[in-house]
Amino acid sequence: MRAIEIREPGGPEVLTLTTRDRPVPGAGELLVKVAAAGVNRPDCLQRQGAYPPPKGASDIPGLEIAGEVADVGAGVTRFKQGDQVCALVAGGGYAEFCTVNETNALPAPRGLTMVEAAAIPETFFTVWHNVFQRGGLRAGETFLVHGGTSGIGTTAIQLAKAFGAKVLATAGSETKCAAMRDLGADLAINYREEDFVAAVKQATDGKGADLILDMVGGEYINRNYQAAAVEGRIVQIAFLKGRMAEADFSLLMMKRLTHTGSTLRARDIAFKALIAEELHRQVWPLLSDRKVLPVMDSIFPLDQAAAAHQRMEDGDHIGKIVLDVS
Ligand SMILES: NC(=O)c1ccc[n+]([C@@H]2O[C@H](COP(=O)([O-])OP(=O)(O)OC[C@H]3O[C@@H](n4cnc5c(N)ncnc54)[C@H](OP(=O)(O)O)[C@@H]3O)[C@@H](O)[C@H]2O)c1
Repeated sequence: MRAIEIREPGGPEVLTLTTRDRPVPGAGELLVKVAAAGVNRPDCLQRQGAYPPPKGASDIPGLEIAGEVADVGAGVTRFKQGDQVCALVAGGGYAEFCTVNETNALPAPRGLTMVEAAAIPETFFTVWHNVFQRGGLRAGETFLVHGGTSGIGTTAIQLAKAFGAKVLATAGSETKCAAMRDLGADLAINYREEDFVAAVKQATDGKGADLILDMVGGEYINRNYQAAAVEGRIVQIAFLKGRMAEADFSLLMMKRLTHTGSTLRARDIAFKALIAEELHRQVWPLLSDRKVLPVMDSIFPLDQAAAAHQRMEDGDHIGKIVLDVS
């Protein structure tokens, strides 16, 4: 099969089209003929050598796919050959075939294209866990998301709105702020033009945000403590501006904040299966009704994976970048 491999750690140009043996589905696994594969920021980190695949995962990049079930391993009960699925995988997505445990796959949402379906798993699993399960977002609360036009951010804005939160979001340009408002953000903050802490305080009558989803880190750690409400929660999913920071921890104590975080990829299949079940029950109907949709930035053919990574690293994208593998 055709696949993209990381020739050596480096820039987008190290992504190389190659041929590999078609994987064989093990017990409980599906072999998916991949129609499309989502591109995510963690793929760029893996390509740079900073985010190695977990033990047992394919070295081929790609954390999410959509396609047709081509074969099933022993004991598979949920899907059969010919079913259209999308799935969260621990690696191996940038290829014509990919295996996945059936519990980490979901039926492709009704009415969506395969390219759209491939843009769903990584951000929806991540947002569901970090915003709703870990962050405990409830209707009526104020939610602040940084990087609001990222794959993660566009998903977080829509889901938080769909579940009744007031949404504040930050981004680095007016175009990106307009996109966040179109997605339903109640307030879009251009962090290059205004201080997000002051903007959040103003939008909440001085109270602050009940939940903050942060991928920036660095100096945002202290500023998130300032922007959070009493009993606020802050969930860390990345450190785009650095993992070392100086912070005034008295704010954590005085406001009784909870600062937590997680990474999805290294979690086991059973954990991801629980997220899949909740998504299927609570979010799949919203996708089928088109109340929530993946925001599509651009589509590249598989053999142009390097251009797709370049697009992500240039930082102008809004929403998801997807590889067309058909
Ligand atoms: N923990 C987990 O389980 C998990 C799972 C998936 C993804 N992630 C992380 O979540 C983040 C978003 O992923 P994604 O795939 O949605 O990425 P993405 O679309 O590339 O988004 C990154 C966003 O971060 C903003 N940003 C702020 N400071 C930045 C900086 N110093 N460098 C680059 N971008 C910066 C950019 O928007 P502006 O132009 O507005 O600044 C951009 O929208 C990534 O850091 C990824 O590693 C974590």
